[in-house]
Amino acid sequence: MAHHHSPLDVLLSRASTDHLVEPPPKGDELRTILSAGLRAPDHGKMRPWRYTVIKGKHREAFADLVVEAMGRQEPDAPEAKKTKRHHRFANMPMIIALGMHLQPEGKIPVIEQEMAVAAGAMNVLNALHAAGFGGMWVTGPFCEDRVLLESLGLPEPHRLAGFLFVGTPAKHSDERKRPEIDDYMAVWKGDAITFAADAG
Ligand SMILES: Cc1cc2nc3c(=O)[nH]c(=O)nc-3n(C[C@H](O)[C@H](O)[C@H](O)COP(=O)(O)O)c2cc1C
Repeated sequence: MAHHHSPLDVLLSRASTDHLVEPPPKGDELRTILSAGLRAPDHGKMRPWRYTVIKGKHREAFADLVVEAMGRQEPDAPEAKKTKRHHRFANMPMIIALGMHLQPEGKIPVIEQEMAVAAGAMNVLNALHAAGFGGMWVTGPFCEDRVLLESLGLPEPHRLAGFLFVGTPAKHSDERKRPEIDDYMAVWKGDAITFAADAG
C-alpha cells in the first residue's frame, strides 16, 4: 500500500485502531519504524525516547503487571475492567511502551522532553501506517505506577507516555469524519484570534 500513496496521503489517511491482528512488524522492519520516532524534534538533544517491545509469550506476564498496577492506582476498579484490560494486553499482537527518560535538572524544561517523546510516538504511528500496520496510543492511571515503571527501566524521575498497541489492522475500518481544518486554523492580522471551533 505504501507504494500507491503519496506521503501526504499516508498522513491524511492514518487512523487509530485497536482492532489488530497478527502479524506485528518484526526485526529490521520494526527497527526502521521505531527509527522514525527518533526523527522527532528534540530540544537540547536530550534523546528521551525509550521504547520497550512486549510480544509473544511475555505478554501474559506483562498483562499481570498492568493489572497489578491498576489494583494499586485504581483500588475501586471493577473486576470486569481489570479482566478486560488483562485480556487486551495479553492478546495484542505487540505492545510498545513509550518510556520518557527525563532529566529535570537540565536546562530543557521537562515538558519539552515529554513533547519530544509524544512527537516520536506520532511518528511511529505514522510509520506503522505507512508500512501497512496499525496502532493505537493508550494510557491510564496505571502508567504512573512505580512498580510497572521500574520493570520498564524507568525509575524516578522517568515516566511513561503510555503504550502503543501494534499489529495489522483487521480488514474493514469505517473512515471516521474528521474536524474541518478551517475551524482550527486562523491567519493572524493583528487582532486577537477567535477560532471557529470555539465560536458560539
Ligand atoms: C496520550 C494519549 C493517550 C490516549 N489514551 C487512550 C486510552 O487510554 N484509551 C483510548 O481509547 N484512547 C486513548 N487515546 C486516543 C486514541 O489513541 C486515538 O487517538 C483515538 O481513538 C482517536 O483515534 P484517531 O487517532 O484515529 O483520531 C489516547 C491518545 C493520546 C494522544
